[in-house]
Amino acid sequence: MPDNQSHSDSIAGAGEAEQPVKVQARDVCVSYSGKQALNHVSIDVPDRSVTAFIGPSGCGKSTFLRCLNRMNDTIEGARVTGSLKIDGLEVNDKSVDPVVLRANVGMVFQKPNPFPKSIYDNVAYGPRIHGLALSKDELDAIVEDSLRKAGLWDEVADRLNHPGTSLSGGQQQRLVIARAIAVNPEVILMDEPCSALDPIATAKIEELIDELRENYCIIIVTHSMQQAARVSQQTAFFHMGNLVEYGTTEDIFTNPRDPRTQDYITGRFG
Ligand SMILES: Nc1ncnc2c1ncn2[C@@H]1O[C@H](COP(=O)(O)OP(=O)(O)O)[C@@H](O)[C@H]1O
Ligand SMILES: [Mg+2]
Repeated sequence: MPDNQSHSDSIAGAGEAEQPVKVQARDVCVSYSGKQALNHVSIDVPDRSVTAFIGPSGCGKSTFLRCLNRMNDTIEGARVTGSLKIDGLEVNDKSVDPVVLRANVGMVFQKPNPFPKSIYDNVAYGPRIHGLALSKDELDAIVEDSLRKAGLWDEVADRLNHPGTSLSGGQQQRLVIARAIAVNPEVILMDEPCSALDPIATAKIEELIDELRENYCIIIVTHSMQQAARVSQQTAFFHMGNLVEYGTTEDIFTNPRDPRTQDYITGRFG
C-alpha cells in the first residue's frame, strides 16, 4: 500500500478480510469552518468483524465516525465531501433520512449516556419511535432480547423500572449498547467506549464486542493499543487527518510499513 493516502486511487483494504465490504469510503474530506480535519480518506470496512481506529488525539478518528451516521450534519461549519456508502447506498444522499440512518448505524460514546429514564424505557425508546413493536408483549420481547445481547439481562431483569443512571458505569455502557441494538442496527460505532471504565468493566465490554462481531460491523476508536490488539481483526492508523495505514490487526502491530505507524505503536508519540 502506498504510504501517502491522499490520492483518490489508493484505497485502503485490509487484504485478508473474509467478510464482504460493509462500509466503503472514497476520498472523504471533512473540514470545520474551512480547517481541514480529514484528508481524502478511502477505506473498505468489512462486515461482521471489528475494525479498530487508532492514532494520536486530534487525528480525525471521531470525525470519520461521525461521517458514517451524519452526525457532522449537526456541527455548525462542518463540511463533508467524498463518497461514503453503507451496503452500497450513499449515506449523504438527499433521500437518506438521518433518523433512520442513525438507527442503522448505532453509536456508543466514551461517557455512557443513558436517557434519564428507566432501564426498560432506555431500551424501548428506539423501538417505540420507529414503530418496531405492535404490542406490549412484542416490546417486552425486544427489550429482553436487546438486554440479553448486550450481556446485561441477568443483572437487571428484576429492576427494569429503575433509572438507567442507577447502574454502574460498565452496566450503563452495556445499557447504551442494548439501546443501540434494539433498533436493529447493522453498524455499531464505538468511540473510546471503555475510556471511563475500570479494568473489569472494560473486560466485559471487550468480551461483548467479541460476541457482537458475529452479527454486526463494528468500528471502535481506542487509544489503547492493547485493546485494539485484543478486540479487532482490522486496524486503521490515522495521523493528522490522513489514513496512514490499514491492514489486519496482526500486520499493523507486528509489521507496520509506515514509520509513523511504527512510531505510534511503539509509543514514540501519542
Ligand atoms: N466540532 C468541531 N468543531 C471544530 N473543529 C473540530 C470539531 N471536532 C473536531 N474538530 C477538529 O478536527 C480535528 C479532528 O478531531 P477529532 O475527529 O475529534 O480527532 P480524534 O477523534 O482523532 O481525537 C481536530 O483538529 C479537532 O480540533
Ligand atoms: Mg475522538
